[in-house]
Amino acid sequence: MTFVQGLLKGKVAFVAGGTSGINLAIADALAQYGASVCVMSRDPAKVDTATAHLARHGGEVRGYPGDVRDFGAVERVVGSATDALGAFDIVVSGAAGNFICPANKLSPNGFRVVVDIDLIGTFHVLRAAYGSLRRPGASIINISAPQSTEAFWGQAHVSAAKAGVDMLTRSLAVEWGHEGIRVNAIVPGPIEGTEGVERLAPTPEIREAWGKANPMRRTGTGAEVANVALFLSSEAASYVNGAIIYCDGGQVLGGARDYRESWEALQAAKGG
Ligand code: HXC
Ligand code: NAP
Repeated sequence: MTFVQGLLKGKVAFVAGGTSGINLAIADALAQYGASVCVMSRDPAKVDTATAHLARHGGEVRGYPGDVRDFGAVERVVGSATDALGAFDIVVSGAAGNFICPANKLSPNGFRVVVDIDLIGTFHVLRAAYGSLRRPGASIINISAPQSTEAFWGQAHVSAAKAGVDMLTRSLAVEWGHEGIRVNAIVPGPIEGTEGVERLAPTPEIREAWGKANPMRRTGTGAEVANVALFLSSEAASYVNGAIIYCDGGQVLGGARDYRESWEALQAAKGG
């Protein structure tokens, strides 16, 4: 899909956790369509690689290392980015941590670390960026996950964190909407080639099964999630606020639990 060239010309975007995977795909699309972009994550080497990658579009790019769990660090990065690029029009909060662990084996610190990164980290990013938002017209996009509404074995910590991200999205949409700040979230489905899928579907067989179980019979791409972020960043979404938008091929509708195989077996038994 192609958006209008220069869709985001003159806009400034800040992408927390924007140095790999889905968030980097979003940062890349924002830069491609004309926004100046700043990314932030913990690993300075990833920050350098991502900024070099984003700079190929020819726009202004900045990158700073920082941990979203450290509010002071987030404030410093937001300050540096605002000094360098100007007030933010677009803020994406996508830093996250995930591993499979059943709750009865998970340490309190293991539970806490995911809530700290995903939920409290998102609050830190939005709270620190609030004063730097150009309004009216600013767009905040939180990156949620299917775990926010669906329960999965070994994902209690992630579900707790991402459900919080969804409600933070809705709460701030209500609080900040009148200032011309829209706050929305995207729920990606399984996105191929990402750290998240590597961690939750660690073998080719499991990944293939995930694709087959999706109503569209495939996993998604980072570019497909980025297209939703482009829409939410643009004037086309000027009255979209507090929405949790699924970009998952319809998986939330029960793709993994559909009765296609049962139906096919019944048809085969009937000789159909
Ligand atoms: C059980 C674990 C664990 C594991 C860590 N812990 N990994 N417990 N099983 N596999 C526990 C540790 O024992 C420790 O508790 C606590 O968690 C903190 O661990 P640290 O390694 O000190 O944490 P830290 O270095 O801060 O790293 C955070 C992290 C790490 C979340 C643990 O994996 C990370 O940095 N992840 C970022 C990248 C990532 O996860 N990307 C995927 C996002 S995908 P104790 O008690 O021992 O101190 C996603 C949704 C995907 O979010 C959806 C797909 C459909
Ligand atoms: P990823 O590549 O691991 O992306 C996570 C990013 O966040 C990285 O840039 C990472 O860089 C950064 N990060 C992690 N912890 C951080 C911290 N404490 N402070 C600052 N930055 C931090 O994973 P992904 O799979 O693409 O996931 C990206 C987002 O999409 C996440 O919000 C995830 O929950 C969501 N999601 C993913 C999928 C999927 O299929 N992959 C599905 C649904 C939702 P550093 O290591 O340098 O910090």
